[in-house]
Amino acid sequence: MQKIIILDFGSQTTQLIGRRVRELDTFCEILPYNKFPQDDPDVIGVILSGSPFSVYDPEAFKIDLAQIRGRYPILGICYGAQFMSHTLGGRVEPAPSREYGRQHLVSFEAENPLFKGFDQGSQVWMSHGDTITALPAGFRTIASTESVSNAAFQAEGEKLWGVQFHPEVFHSVQGSLLLKNFVVDVCGSRQSWSAASFVDTTVAELKEQLGNDRVILGLSGGVDSSVAAVLLNRAIGDRLTCIFVDHGMLRKNEFKQVMEDYQGLGLHVIGVDASEKFFADLAGVADPEQKRKIIGRDFVEVFNAEAHKITDARWLAQGTIYPDRIESLNITGNVIKSHHNVGGLPKEMHLQLCEPLKWLFKDEVRRVGRQLGMPEHLIGRHPFPGPGLAVRILGDITPEKVRILQEADDIYIRAMREYVCEDGEILYNKIWQAGAILLSTVRSVGVMGDERTYEHPVALRAVTSTDAMTADWAHLPYDFMARVSTDIINHVRGVNRVCYDISSKPPATIEWE
Ligand code: XMP
Repeated sequence: MQKIIILDFGSQTTQLIGRRVRELDTFCEILPYNKFPQDDPDVIGVILSGSPFSVYDPEAFKIDLAQIRGRYPILGICYGAQFMSHTLGGRVEPAPSREYGRQHLVSFEAENPLFKGFDQGSQVWMSHGDTITALPAGFRTIASTESVSNAAFQAEGEKLWGVQFHPEVFHSVQGSLLLKNFVVDVCGSRQSWSAASFVDTTVAELKEQLGNDRVILGLSGGVDSSVAAVLLNRAIGDRLTCIFVDHGMLRKNEFKQVMEDYQGLGLHVIGVDASEKFFADLAGVADPEQKRKIIGRDFVEVFNAEAHKITDARWLAQGTIYPDRIESLNITGNVIKSHHNVGGLPKEMHLQLCEPLKWLFKDEVRRVGRQLGMPEHLIGRHPFPGPGLAVRILGDITPEKVRILQEADDIYIRAMREYVCEDGEILYNKIWQAGAILLSTVRSVGVMGDERTYEHPVALRAVTSTDAMTADWAHLPYDFMARVSTDIINHVRGVNRVCYDISSKPPATIEWE
């Protein structure tokens, strides 16, 4: 299958380049800058990403351009462009002031393949401390902004381009067009990577890989594991056994609803109600890390006990997706592997790992789910943390506190699913993730009827995000917040105050614990 290689020099927007390329129905792989795959016949082009470094930093990431130059079309973005200029004999210098933000292309080569279809004055987004002041011999400027004369360049007679702006970000208004010009017109992508083709090829591969073997998969109620299950079910039918553990800290009625959804999809699911065990082991524990550890340990125990009953299983399937696996670079150049942990599955079971979604971004998982005919309320679900409401209750956990939080959370989320925004869209679908948090270590005074109350506050959280790495608090409509607050205080006994969390990530996190 044709692919674009994106060499990662550590920029925060590298993943975004990958997603833009995938939006062009073209497969791509993001690899650390120094891991270019030699002799991969499927590579049709290379993109060099930005970087937090200046080309002059002693630790700056460097590659030998000879391994790709002349062999593939190349597009360098920001640092990628500066690195090529610097290495091939041009001059890169600190910009008089950091070139940051919106700029406009005051001139560009309209006939250049990279700028096909571009509008005069097209807005681009810059973000760099250095700038290219002289191009290498044989290179020419093909676009300028008012303050950046070498905004884009091409090597004469070569399929090698550099742009100092970031076509992958939203604020580069025609950035996707530029990437399309490169990926489709220059590199010759046939744009055959689609949800339908993914389903067909993956089902065929899974059939081949798994043969008549039996597979176990842990379901969480979330999108990724659900889509993985349906895909596997397509490939091997009831040789897939799913295990869904209820730790007692799911949303209100969630266990029952999700079980029904799964059964409706034809999945063979074993539902395990282990809530008593979890509550007993968590009793009196208030420290967030301790709580997480206990839940993690109990989860593995309960899952393993069930898995062991399926004595002839050969595979463990997981809903791992591509961003979980991208080897991201930190500033020291060390590769941090963030691969999902197999969760301590007993070695004696000798299970092999099967990860059918390992090449997909989150939005692609959703597209595949739709392609598989899964219901929209499963596909469009907000992410929900593994430890569930346990990390949304400050202090120790009791079944009563969970019940209070479930009620408040249910009012909030149901209202969000019903609220239609001014633009006609449902509020829930505009939000990355929302939930209520019970501040059970805090009490405040209130008055209800003639009675003084002294109860707990509930905090509401709603964020917008693309990958949960960063998140902004959502600007929820006031009339929506007013209604939810009144409903919670009037209907949930034990709560007399509602607050809204207006912290972004970083420095806050999405979850409170
Ligand atoms: P934070 O709180 O770190 O969360 O900003 C980022 C995203 O990860 C989810 N999250 C978890 N998901 N197990 C999970 O499966 C966990 O232990 C866990 N902790 C946080 C969180 O809901 C958000 O989407």
